[in-house]
Amino acid sequence: MAEDLTIIKGSKQEKYAALIPQIKALIDGEPDLIANLANIAGALKEQFNWFWVGFYLVKDEQLVLGPFQGPVACTRINKGRGVCGTSWAKAETLIVPDVEKFPGHISCNSLSRSEIVVPMIRNGIVWGVLDVDSEFLDQFDETDKAFLEEIVLNIEC
Ligand code: SME
Repeated sequence: MAEDLTIIKGSKQEKYAALIPQIKALIDGEPDLIANLANIAGALKEQFNWFWVGFYLVKDEQLVLGPFQGPVACTRINKGRGVCGTSWAKAETLIVPDVEKFPGHISCNSLSRSEIVVPMIRNGIVWGVLDVDSEFLDQFDETDKAFLEEIVLNIEC
C-alpha cells in the first residue's frame, strides 16, 4: 500500500474511525512485529499529535521500551510499577487524568500530565502495553479506551 496517511480534522471518534482502517491496511500481511508497532506509533502520533505514544514489551519479567514517537523515555519498568506496570499487573486499561495523582507514577518526562495505558493480551497473557501521554490534563476517556483496545487487538505478536 501507499505509505501516506490521510489525516482528518473532526471529533475524536471521527479521527479514530478514519485511522483504524488505515492502521489495519498498514500492518496487514506484514509479519514483523517491530515494523508494525513502529508504524502504529507513527500513525497515532501523526493523527493525534500526542506528546508521547509507544509500546513497552514484556521481556524477562520486565516491560522494555519498544517503538515509540516522542521524547526519550524510561527503558525498563517492573511489574506493578507506574501506570504501565500496573496496567500489566492488572491486565486492564488504565486512564489517568492527572499523573501527579497516580501513586507511583513514573515520570519519564515532566511535561506529561495525563496518560492512558492499554495492555496487549494474548491467550490471557499480557505481552506488552500501548502507552499514550499528553502534556494536557484529562485528555483520555472511554472513547480512547475503546478504540485503542481495538487497535491493539489487531496486532499479532
Ligand atoms: N509514565 C509511565 C512511564 C512510561 S512513560 O510515560 C513513556 C508510567 O508511569 O508507567
